Amino acid sequence: MMQHHRQRHQQQQQQRRPVPVEEEDDAAAEEEELRLKEKEMKKRERNTRHQQIKRKKKKLRKDIASNLLLTVPDFESPEGEETPNAGRSGESGGDCSGREGRGKREDGNNGPGAKGGGYRDASGSKLGKSKRGKEARKGKESAGAKRNAPDAGRSKPSPRLGSEAKDSTRPKSKEETRPNGKKPNLLEKMRNRLQGSQFRWLNEKLYTCSGREAFEMMQKDDKMFDNYHLGFQTQTEHWPVRPVDVAIKFIQNRARQQHKKQGGEPLRVADFGCGDAEVSLHFSKSSSSAAVVECHSFDLVSKNPRVVACNMAKVPLESGCCDIAIFCLALMGNDYPLFLREAERCLKANGTLWIAEVRSRYSKVKGGDTRNSDFVKRICSDLNFKLLKHDNSNKMFVTYVFEKHGQGKGKANEAGKSSSPQDLVASWPKLSSCVYKKR
Ligand SMILES: C[S@@+](CC[C@H](N)C(=O)[O-])C[C@H]1O[C@@H](n2cnc3c(N)ncnc32)[C@H](O)[C@@H]1O
Repeated sequence: MMQHHRQRHQQQQQQRRPVPVEEEDDAAAEEEELRLKEKEMKKRERNTRHQQIKRKKKKLRKDIASNLLLTVPDFESPEGEETPNAGRSGESGGDCSGREGRGKREDGNNGPGAKGGGYRDASGSKLGKSKRGKEARKGKESAGAKRNAPDAGRSKPSPRLGSEAKDSTRPKSKEETRPNGKKPNLLEKMRNRLQGSQFRWLNEKLYTCSGREAFEMMQKDDKMFDNYHLGFQTQTEHWPVRPVDVAIKFIQNRARQQHKKQGGEPLRVADFGCGDAEVSLHFSKSSSSAAVVECHSFDLVSKNPRVVACNMAKVPLESGCCDIAIFCLALMGNDYPLFLREAERCLKANGTLWIAEVRSRYSKVKGGDTRNSDFVKRICSDLNFKLLKHDNSNKMFVTYVFEKHGQGKGKANEAGKSSSPQDLVASWPKLSSCVYKKR
């Protein structure tokens, strides 16, 4: 019993004995070491995750590049022309953006990479980086407000084409929608971005090269054509009114008039630079309109049997066979006067030339997009047309309706007919490229 007591006493003594200081230090050190190790492990984990994501992104970029990137041929800008700002040119908003963009340059060539670059405010002075951001935001807000305002911009509100009015009913752009309603994933976003920059590059090329060069380029790689049109559609789907719809309406009215006057005689239309041949498709849909409109469509590439692939400076049509020649945003080459001369050849006497172009394209033309501009004067004086109608009430584009003079077939007057193609092109005003907004 006594022994048991003693043992318990000893045990209690031992428990009460204070822990030596060194032991306490060791424990704290051990704990600290453990904490550091844990921290280190977490850091390493984070780094590996970061690396993994980085590698994944890199791989995605590679995949996209190998699947999508078009082979872009070397392309020299024509002599005397400003070198186009390919790839950068579309970064700031232009007139054809469908929205008011960021600072707009006076020369119509927008974008920070352009000569004498930098964004500008409305007064034309350069904007600093932070101011640029503010201005851009302000621009977006005011653009939204202006779009909704009844007297937006300097022109009247854009006329709407009944069911074709685009604002509320327009399909959402590919960035905004996916079939499952989810936001686009990284791959899709990158694909869209790449596609957008290829579109802007192609767009600039088509405005700065000749029709022949454009034809050769597109024929080499027709993926370019698809890419161009995907980008073009993405842009125009934001427009309140698309010029191609205006063209269709114009043809429809004329077809009705002709039908009344001439009975069964079809209205023969040539659509120069038809793109997806929307005009032809429209009139082939209803059998009654197909009976009165016969549409010949021309473009650089033929993606459907309605379209004849050619450079529209020379189309396979007889002289004097058409009632209407349409150029819907199609005066793209730097030798565009040759396209108009070809249209004049194809038109009947008193035939109609219908042109729609983005307004900013006339920024360097004397007289701009008015009815007395150098552009109009040249068409009338060199190609024997008279201006019937001019409409610049739309904020985005201007339309012209000309009538061919005289009785002859393909009778451009002396200046137009006898001058060499080079002389004709050199003597006409240059139209600026249409710069699209990055979307
Ligand atoms: C801006 S798109 C307009 C397409 C269509 N007219 C529309 O409004 O939807 C211009 C079209 O002109 C075509 N184009 C440009 N230069 C051409 C040329 N030299 N010969 C034939 N087509 C040309 C382009 O390929 C493109 O399809």
